[in-house]
Amino acid sequence: MDPRNAIEIRHMSKTFRTYKDKQKTLKERLTRRRGDVIENTVLDDISLDIKKGETVALIGTNGSGKSTLLKLMTKILYPNKGTIETQGKLTSLLELGAGFHPDFTGRENIYFNAAVFGLNREEIDKRIDDIIEFSELGPFIDEPVRTYSSGMYMRLAFSVAINVDAEILLIDEILAVGDQHFQNKCFDKLEELRDSEKTIVIVSHSLGMVKILCSRAVWIYKGKLRLDGDPTYVISKYLEQSAIDNKEEVKKAAEDQEAVPRGAVFIDSPVAFQSVSNQEDLKINGWAVSNSENEVVEVLFDDKPVTDIHRSVRSDVFRAYEEDYAGFIDEATVGYIATIPKEELVNGSHHLEAIVRDGKTKRQIDRRSIRIKVDDNPVSAEDDKKG
Ligand SMILES: Nc1ncnc2c1ncn2[C@@H]1O[C@H](COP(=O)(O)OP(=O)(O)OP(=O)(O)O)[C@@H](O)[C@H]1O
Ligand SMILES: [Mg+2]
Repeated sequence: MDPRNAIEIRHMSKTFRTYKDKQKTLKERLTRRRGDVIENTVLDDISLDIKKGETVALIGTNGSGKSTLLKLMTKILYPNKGTIETQGKLTSLLELGAGFHPDFTGRENIYFNAAVFGLNREEIDKRIDDIIEFSELGPFIDEPVRTYSSGMYMRLAFSVAINVDAEILLIDEILAVGDQHFQNKCFDKLEELRDSEKTIVIVSHSLGMVKILCSRAVWIYKGKLRLDGDPTYVISKYLEQSAIDNKEEVKKAAEDQEAVPRGAVFIDSPVAFQSVSNQEDLKINGWAVSNSENEVVEVLFDDKPVTDIHRSVRSDVFRAYEEDYAGFIDEATVGYIATIPKEELVNGSHHLEAIVRDGKTKRQIDRRSIRIKVDDNPVSAEDDKKG
C-alpha cells in the first residue's frame, strides 16, 4: 500500500445474495435450486485511492452502494472480488446506535465505545468531560441510551468518534438527524478536523454541505465509479443525470399507467391562526415542488381562487429539493406569491388553501390549509410573543 494513502481500493466488487422466497424447512433449503438465488452486484470493479488528509464525499442516489462502501472500508463487510485496504486508526459513524448497548447509560457507553477504539480507562477518564460537554446531553448522559431520541444517539456517537484520536473518520449521513444547532456544531468540528490533516469520508445528500466541506467528491452510479473530482463539478454532473433519470422514471410510470405524481406545497406566511390587517393587501408566500411537468399551483381564499398569483425565486427550497426533484424544479419558480386585495379582506375568520396539481390531469398532488383572522388592528406576531 502506498504510504501516502489512507484508503486503497483495487478492482473491488461486492455482490449481495438474496433468495426469491424464504425456504421454510431444512430440506427446502438443501434442495434450493440455483435459480432461486438473486445476485445483486452493488459495487462493480471499483478502484479508488483516498490520500491521507483528504476530505472526500461519496454521493449517489438511494441504494447506489454508498453505505455498503463505507462498511467495506470499516471491514464490517468484505468484498467478493478485489481488495480494500486502510492505513491508520479508523473510526466510523454508520448506522445510528450501532456499537451502543441500549441498557447502559450514555456515560457507560462512552467507556465501551472508546475502549473498542483502543483507548484504556485512564485515557478515557481524561477525555470524558470533553465528550460529554460536546454531546450537550446534560443529565441524560446518566440515562440508559434506549431512552434516547435519534438526535441524542447521534450526539453521543459523534462526540465519541471525534475524541478517540482516529486518523480516518467515516461518516454516513447520520448528521442529518441532529437539530440545526448541533448540525452546525458538527459541521464546524468537521471543518476543524479537515484542516488538521485527518482523512474524512462522508456520505451525504446535503450537496451544499459537500461543496463547502469536501475537497473531492466521488459519485457512484449503477455500481460503478462514475466521476471523481472537484465537488462542484461532480455534483453538477450528478444532478444532470438525476434529472434525466427522474424524467425517464416518470415517463415509464406513465406508460405503465401507474403514474402517481408526488410533490409538496407549503404556505410560509401568513402562518396558521395569525391575525392580518385589512388595511393593506395580503401577500401569501409559499412554495411547491413536484415531479409533474407544468405543475399548477392554486391558492384559495375561503374556497375562492386567488387570481393574482405568480411563481417566485426560492433558493432555500430549491437547494433542499434539487436532488429529489432534479429535472422538475427550477430555482426561479419554486416559490409562489399570491396577493389578496385589501377590499376582499372582511373582518373575521377565514381559511387559506394552497394546492399543487398535475399539469396534464389536473389531479391534486398535495394541499395545505390554514385558518387566519382578519382584523382592523391586528397584534403583530412580534407583539404577540412579547405580550
Ligand atoms: N445486507 C444486505 N443484503 C442484501 N442487500 C443489501 C444489503 N445491504 C445493502 N443491500 C443492497 O445494496 C444496495 C446498496 O445499498 P446501500 O445501503 O449501500 O445504498 P446507499 O447508497 O447507502 O443508499 P441510501 O442513500 O439510501 O443510504 C441496495 O440495493 C440494498 O438493497
Ligand atoms: Mg446509505
